[in-house]
Amino acid sequence: MSLVGPKSKLLQQRAQKVLPLGVNSNFRYWGEGLTPYVDKAKGAYLWDVDGRRFIDYRMAFGPIILGHAYDEVDAQVIAEVKNGVLFAMTGELEVRVAEMIVEMCPAVDMVRFACSGTEATMHAIRVARAFTGRDTILKFEGNYHGFHDHTLWSTYAPEEAYGNRRSPIPVKASSGIPQSMSEFVITLPFNDFEGFERVMRSYGDQLAAVITEPCQGNCGAIEPQPGFLELIRKRTEEYDVVFILDEVKTGFRIANGGAQEYYGIRPDLATYAKAMGNGYPIAAFGGRREIMSIIGHGVSQGGTYTNNKPGVAAAYATLNLLKTKPILESIQKRGRRLMDGLKDIFEDNNIPFAMSGYPAMFSFALGVQAVTCQRDWDHSDKDSYLKLVEMAIERGVMPDHDPREPWFLCYSHTDADVDETLSVYADIVKNVKR
Ligand SMILES: Cc1ncc(COP(=O)(O)O)c(C=O)c1O
Repeated sequence: MSLVGPKSKLLQQRAQKVLPLGVNSNFRYWGEGLTPYVDKAKGAYLWDVDGRRFIDYRMAFGPIILGHAYDEVDAQVIAEVKNGVLFAMTGELEVRVAEMIVEMCPAVDMVRFACSGTEATMHAIRVARAFTGRDTILKFEGNYHGFHDHTLWSTYAPEEAYGNRRSPIPVKASSGIPQSMSEFVITLPFNDFEGFERVMRSYGDQLAAVITEPCQGNCGAIEPQPGFLELIRKRTEEYDVVFILDEVKTGFRIANGGAQEYYGIRPDLATYAKAMGNGYPIAAFGGRREIMSIIGHGVSQGGTYTNNKPGVAAAYATLNLLKTKPILESIQKRGRRLMDGLKDIFEDNNIPFAMSGYPAMFSFALGVQAVTCQRDWDHSDKDSYLKLVEMAIERGVMPDHDPREPWFLCYSHTDADVDETLSVYADIVKNVKR
């Protein structure tokens, strides 16, 4: 099998006449003649337009927690949409979903819904600024919080562009973002305890929020070092700064209560999307009652589609399944087998690697022993990682083409899928052996 079949190539040419790059999100473009186009997906599998089947580890960048086209979720959505999809009024089902989120997520007393992770983090930042009366936010290099201008800074740049780690330069990730917005952003390497202490001493009383992913879910799932999230919690409390934990990737995935439950950490606000609706468009942000209660009292938040019925119904069905069945435990078992199997393969072939993340969402950097932030990760052997990904795809196993994107598992992956994946990797790793 080649990386991309003839029908994908043709569809790319056609798509490029009407869609910039031939896609509807820049991240979906893998290159000229290298971008697969999808036909359908079911469970853990995805078929491209050439009819080739892949074991999918992209899971649409994380949302698919149960499996593609999961019958119980789809049935709930179909039943609900027959009674209308949008009313610009509030219904009981969305109240129930809000109650479920509050029950499942330890730090959440109240929530508001949105349609995407981008919206959820944008709203959370607005609320944090309104609550504190301050404008500046601190974010970490390599973390991605969506496409809005407030945080599309230092998501990925070469180390030279980031400057010295004692005084990092916020690097905008797109033309079109006003440079003047850099005035409101302070950036730091993730897991930089000393840098964080220094910034809090100098600017703590000017910060509205510290926003972070609990792990770097957009840079190889680099975990927080022990004590790092706790330090953020401690200092933000001391300086009355809102601690926003962006759980768009970890929420309802690494534990039912996300990273809050996993690490026992209580942020002031948290953001959710992805696994919350098994692929349907639904998101939320929420947290302490005192902070959330200012919404509607001089603080704007809303949106025509924020309680769209397909999204709400999918969230209801998904959260219900997560609450009542040991779904994440089952994903963890399979994910652990896959992580351990890959570790054995790299060790047997004397390939240095750093494995990071959680069984439901993990990654590995090659050619390095440990990675604690994007600057370290950037020194890893990304070419070999990519070479492996392309060979895996040619053999029917599909992690994402971008090495920053973790491997995601869902409830529909089977032991046989894990075995097949390991046997493919055992085979292809020989080709990058140094
Ligand atoms: C941690 C995090 N926050 C926010 C977002 C933005 O979410 P969306 O793509 O739904 O706008 C993403 C997307 O990958 C994410 O990983």
